[in-house]
Amino acid sequence: MAKGLDIPLTKVYSVATFFKAFSLVPRGRHLISVCLGTACHVRGSDKVLDKIERDLCIKHGGTTTDQKFSLETVNCVGACALGPMVMIDDEYHGQMTAEKVESVLAKYA
Ligand code: FES
Repeated sequence: MAKGLDIPLTKVYSVATFFKAFSLVPRGRHLISVCLGTACHVRGSDKVLDKIERDLCIKHGGTTTDQKFSLETVNCVGACALGPMVMIDDEYHGQMTAEKVESVLAKYA
């Protein structure tokens, strides 16, 4: 890519690693973002994250071996009153609980 753009490889690398929208490793078809911001954290988002990690057998920052899901954490998605919040692709899932995780993930499997 650097050759095609006629810029140093270090410039491409710095952009690719600075913006969270870019990834140097392949991502899953669906991106799950679990909010760990203060409002969501006090309502139990850590338990939701644990459940998703166990169900998908990955840790946050990882991608399932079938490339269906990538899992990340975020600090706030701007819907604190509905926390704990989980975003899957562009869909918001508010008032998430560990018990709801399985049924929500099933919609994307
Ligand atoms: S802290 Fe989770 S949406 Fe704001």
